[in-house]
Amino acid sequence: MTKQSPALDNLLTESRTFPPSEEFAAKANATEQWYADAEADPEAFWERQAERLHWQTKWSQVLDWSNAPFAKWFVGGKLNVAYNCVDRHVENGHGDQVAIHWVGEPGDTRDITYAELHREVCKAANALLSLGVTANDRVAIQLPMIPEAIVSMLACARIGALHSVVFGGFSSSALRSRVDDAEAKVVITSDGQYRRGKAMPMKANVDEALDGADTVEKVIVVRRVGDDLEGGVPWTEGRDVWWHDLVDAQSDEHEPEAFDSEHPLFILYTSGTTGKPKGILHTSGGYLTQVAYSHHVVFDHKPGEDVYWCTADIGWITGHSYIVYGPLANRATQVVYEGTPNTPHEGRHWEIVQNYKVTIYYTAPTLIRTFMKWGSDIPAKYDLSSLRLIGSVGEPINPEAWVWYRKHIGGDRCPIVDTWWQTETGAIMISPLPGVTHAKPGSAQRALPGVSAKVVDNDGNEVPRNGGGYLVLDKPWPAMLRGVWGDEQRYRDTYWAQYAEQGYYFAGDGAKYDADGDIWLLGRVDDVMNVSGHRISTTEVESALVSHPTVAEAAVVGATDPTTGQGIVAFVILRGGVAEDEAGGEKAIQELRDHVAKEIGPIAKPRQIMVVPELPKTRSGKIMRRLLRDVAENREIGDVTTLADSSVMDLISKGMKSRS
Ligand code: PRX
Repeated sequence: MTKQSPALDNLLTESRTFPPSEEFAAKANATEQWYADAEADPEAFWERQAERLHWQTKWSQVLDWSNAPFAKWFVGGKLNVAYNCVDRHVENGHGDQVAIHWVGEPGDTRDITYAELHREVCKAANALLSLGVTANDRVAIQLPMIPEAIVSMLACARIGALHSVVFGGFSSSALRSRVDDAEAKVVITSDGQYRRGKAMPMKANVDEALDGADTVEKVIVVRRVGDDLEGGVPWTEGRDVWWHDLVDAQSDEHEPEAFDSEHPLFILYTSGTTGKPKGILHTSGGYLTQVAYSHHVVFDHKPGEDVYWCTADIGWITGHSYIVYGPLANRATQVVYEGTPNTPHEGRHWEIVQNYKVTIYYTAPTLIRTFMKWGSDIPAKYDLSSLRLIGSVGEPINPEAWVWYRKHIGGDRCPIVDTWWQTETGAIMISPLPGVTHAKPGSAQRALPGVSAKVVDNDGNEVPRNGGGYLVLDKPWPAMLRGVWGDEQRYRDTYWAQYAEQGYYFAGDGAKYDADGDIWLLGRVDDVMNVSGHRISTTEVESALVSHPTVAEAAVVGATDPTTGQGIVAFVILRGGVAEDEAGGEKAIQELRDHVAKEIGPIAKPRQIMVVPELPKTRSGKIMRRLLRDVAENREIGDVTTLADSSVMDLISKGMKSRS
């Protein structure tokens, strides 16, 4: 496994604990007993959790693992996911409860009740049906954080079509490869999006992506920015249709059909260790059961009382599970915010917490560190006393950030839940239970009741206390991925080949037990970087770089970064014949950074590009990223004995040109 950084060593000497308050514990949704109950009979435990949903037909078997690693949960059960997230709350007399307090970046707002959400989802479902979308078809969605994004996802779920949401910041080529891989029939997008106070184009990006994409029959366009967008909206007659023309004209009634528990719900692409993103496939009954269960216990959510806010974008799994499916299945009232946290000022989040009396706030360490940088005087200006629980997700949270978060946002009273999970796990797997766990800054601590995780060595043996190794999930769980879209072998190879003998799921994360047996996550052990909580593969960025005409070869590493967790550092060898002053200069490096943004998206822009004469390679030709990481992190260079040519590192250190 990769070498531990000093920050992580630091993290592991952390010894403070924060017990829950008696007041919180007295009303908590879960108790210590849940662990024992789940362990005594996991299947009975999950059955009880499945009962929080409405099933048209009950299952006949809880888990079928006979065709491992392909699981079937709640076999024979039938349900409609959208009905569970919307209709049943209206039928149970909660139609007037606000489901979404939506806040637009320019300051416009919309409160949407469950009854309204129901009408909108029915209309959108009818709209998709009118375009010929049927169960099992794929619909790609690239939208900003506007209500139509949630409505579109639920409309797909309602008719059994799979959505594939593509983050709004992804480039046209990233969108195109996802549209092609899933063979999407319809794309839903918007004219543009507000970003830091400006209307930016979105439809233009989609049009560029769809040039020649022959599976796409229709593009539905939401009007979000209208006349604010310079240059207007490109339009293809016969293919493009405005959301307001199509959806508003539909009936607001639609009878939901119950689908099999294993009916596919969505595909979400995530970076793996190769250049090609993987389409992670999730299905219906097990997924909804576990996202609803975890949202209930980890956030201690009380329907009708709490105001919940998860700051993620729906383009990521956190948005899918903890903005759309979990909270809505649990009848949450939630805030959805469209914009960036410093528009128009750095107190925007705290102003929203104050205005809507938010009680549960869930965000990412990178943002917490940014808030720290902006200064604690900013949250201090707002009334945050409504908050009662705060959470973190996406990367290890360093104890300093944890303690700052607890003090300056949580008022020294709110429990913090540090939740570990992945696109693949679908739902939170490891987290403190608020009201139960004595929290430790920097540790996600323990698998949730019903979930089983272990830290093992190379051979699959569990490591002792204070020992480090790899995180595995040793039992199937309801929200687990059901495969990689169109690539069964890749599913087996990526997650199950490492510990084939034991049948463990390999998460790709390093981890450690402390003296109490609590789990500490130590970051990825593969070639996946974590930048601001976003997964980006080194190979993906390398491919983007070498697709530029001036680049002969490229190697990319994730270097520790105080704000973003990791920053992307690229080492490039230029093509012969490219003159130094032509390609080695500031301008050329900027051009390469922009090129990566264009190929993948702005989140993948290297923080730093270094032009080097050679790359360190082993005799078999494998690039030794470990050594490049030493250079990128300004450390003494480690062991070079396995290099084919050990003088290369001297050349790099001496000859590299560094630009930020
Ligand atoms: O390395 C782990 C890190 O994020 C990876 C999963 O990324 P993604 O699929 O994009 O999902 C992010 C949101 C669930 C993991 O393999 N990670 C996520 N949460 C934590 C974390 N690392 C440490 N602590 C966490 N709480």
